[in-house]
Amino acid sequence: MKTAAVILAAGQGTRMKSSTQKVLHPVCGRPMIDYSLLAVRSLGIDAPVVIIGRQGETVQAHLGESAICVVQDQQLGTGHAVLQAESALRGQADLVLVIYGDMPLLRSETLAQLVETQKKNPGPMTMLTAVSSDSHGFGRVLRGPDGFVRAIVEEAAAAPEQLQLKELNVGVYCFASAWLWDALHRIPLSKKGEYYLTDTLALAVEAGLPVQALSTDDSAEIIGINTRVHLAEAEAAMRARINRVHMLAGVTITDPASTYIGADVKIGADTVIWPNTYLRGRTVIGQGCTIGPNTIAEDTLVGDNCEILAAVMEKAVVEDNVTMGPFARLRPGAHLCKGVHMGNFGEVKDSTLGPETKMGHFSYIGNATIGENVNIGAGTITCNFDGVRKNPTVIGENAFIGSDTMLVAPVTIGAGAKTGAGSVVTRDVEENMLVVGVPAKPLRKLNEARDDSSHK
Ligand code: UD1
Ligand code: CA
Repeated sequence: MKTAAVILAAGQGTRMKSSTQKVLHPVCGRPMIDYSLLAVRSLGIDAPVVIIGRQGETVQAHLGESAICVVQDQQLGTGHAVLQAESALRGQADLVLVIYGDMPLLRSETLAQLVETQKKNPGPMTMLTAVSSDSHGFGRVLRGPDGFVRAIVEEAAAAPEQLQLKELNVGVYCFASAWLWDALHRIPLSKKGEYYLTDTLALAVEAGLPVQALSTDDSAEIIGINTRVHLAEAEAAMRARINRVHMLAGVTITDPASTYIGADVKIGADTVIWPNTYLRGRTVIGQGCTIGPNTIAEDTLVGDNCEILAAVMEKAVVEDNVTMGPFARLRPGAHLCKGVHMGNFGEVKDSTLGPETKMGHFSYIGNATIGENVNIGAGTITCNFDGVRKNPTVIGENAFIGSDTMLVAPVTIGAGAKTGAGSVVTRDVEENMLVVGVPAKPLRKLNEARDDSSHK
């Protein structure tokens, strides 16, 4: 049986008080609508129909080819919203799954169960329900003695005793397609001037057709986002879920409550994450690392066995066995090769530090290519900006940059060369040459054997 999906996202989201469309607000770094899309995609539904409102262009632009967007001009209710998908879907599938774009915690497993339940149901629909004491805003589910659903009573219309009912209509349904489209045309206009999707159930019950319900016991799943208070609840629940998945996969998270891992982040086993750490975007962390406390990584790749303490990294690459921090900053284009040590108060931008290179204290390295096993003394600065252009610095392998050296770019320091403390290097330095002073001048060629000890 073929299943199609409709995602409702036409609501204005007025209560978000935002200039951004509600379903584009991120939850754990990902726009909430993407969770709905991924959930239906994991059921093998590639191009769901997303119902957007008149101001939904930004949603449509975001979804691109991944969905068929249909505009619902006027918000005339959930039934009217689903009806907008008729011309796109009629005759295209046997079953139609309906979900909301503002419920990012719905699990694909639950949706799969709902579809399976409907496949076995001789009747036209199966709905998702949840038993919760926090029932505010939900329609209440009335079941008959046979267990089938008899009615959904909207909260506003519910009698006091009906308000006590604990089984709630989540707003997720699986319909027999052939039945659905005709039923939607027969829904009466409500007193509020809307067409309620829930009235399809009344039509089924009147016709004596069985309506099934599947109940979820994961209370997080039913969090629907109408306000920023709900957004924070969803964020917390999603964060807990993400952290749990990583922990079950072998990552130690010492304090999940203060660990913020984005939905797309990957982390290897035996890595330990200390508190107040934020891993965002497309960040990938290898195995056996220690990350944090107090670390931010965004779109950053970290290899295996790295130790990163109190660092901020953005669009950077850190290879295996690197130690960093505390108070280290990698800006876009920073690349630390294997075994690099980057100590306190360093900043690296658009630069490569070769394998085993050490940069212990207070340095700024920008637009530089640094070879293997270089020692960058405390306070070294690449003066990469001349007021107009960013100029490159190249440092050859085994070079020793003395403390407080200013490298006025463009400049090249040859392999094995050495700069004296406080030198201001304005011209290229030959291999194995010692330069000192302001501006730096060659002093003597270094004897490999005699000076080698100082390189390590
Ligand atoms: C609906 C259900 C209620 C259920 C609740 C769960 C109906 C009549 N009631 O109520 O039983 O417990 O959801 O949250 O369906 N939308 C559109 N176009 C519209 C109207 C709504 O796209 O014209 C979208 C909204 O963006 C939203 C979703 O449908 O994502 C639900 O709409 P909402 O108005 O919040 O429904 P409720 O009144 O909460
Ligand atoms: Ca709602």
